[in-house]
Amino acid sequence: MKKLIIILVVLSFGVQGIFAADDWGKTGHRATGEIAQRYLTKKTQRAITELLNGQSLAFVANYADDIKSDNEYRSYGTWHYVNFPFDSTYEKHPKSEKGDLIVGINTCVSALKNENSSKDEKIFHLKMLVHFIGDLHQPLHIGLADDKGGNDFQVRWFKDGANLHRVWDYHMIDDYDMSYTELAENSEELTKNQLKRFQAGTVIDWMYDSRDLCKQVYENTEIGDKLGYMYMYDYMNVVRTQLQKGGIRLAVLLNGIFG
Ligand code: ADE
Ligand code: ZN
Ligand code: ZN
Repeated sequence: MKKLIIILVVLSFGVQGIFAADDWGKTGHRATGEIAQRYLTKKTQRAITELLNGQSLAFVANYADDIKSDNEYRSYGTWHYVNFPFDSTYEKHPKSEKGDLIVGINTCVSALKNENSSKDEKIFHLKMLVHFIGDLHQPLHIGLADDKGGNDFQVRWFKDGANLHRVWDYHMIDDYDMSYTELAENSEELTKNQLKRFQAGTVIDWMYDSRDLCKQVYENTEIGDKLGYMYMYDYMNVVRTQLQKGGIRLAVLLNGIFG
């Protein structure tokens, strides 16, 4: 009996370990999709409704995580993040041979723009793009290879063991306890200028924007830190802004492709 319990405990931790990397978490990715939906032009909305057969961007936002357990899609695993050292740049540092988040986003945009892509190819790359623009705004997805984007950076989340990556992917949003529609509806009101600033730039600029945030996170967090109420107080509004930027910028790309 004792042996069985030990096996069950080990198994449950193992399974948790395998499935831990689910990025912004389902709610965060859906919120990004829902926010984007509100910034689409009519023409883009029509094109997307037709491709997704009426499903929303929020509905498809977790597809790229869902397919991770299917071996057929193994090669897309590295497209969820990009790592390079703090004293280097994306351009200077040797690129991952398997591709990275920037390669993933550029591949999706090209496939959607390409008149020769089949409808199925477009659907696939649209779903992937919705997810990857979410990942682009999770600061630890523009991370360091040494600790796997904070996955190996152990901390406590309230009384439980956690890692820094998962705090940013999941714990803060989960503890905030809003649905994805509530997160979208309660986004900060933006002035015209603020909106313009969020919309400006390229995918690479947006990556460096998240990278600055990643650096701040590392400056303000130590291995073994006990994170909880104070961390939520310091960073939950930052998370909300990242979700908002992700949604607005996803809409910029989609309007550029379909508009
Ligand atoms: N695995 C390795 N690096 C990672 C990162 N930055 N984000 C998510 N998973 C990773
Ligand atoms: Zn993640
Ligand atoms: Zn992801």
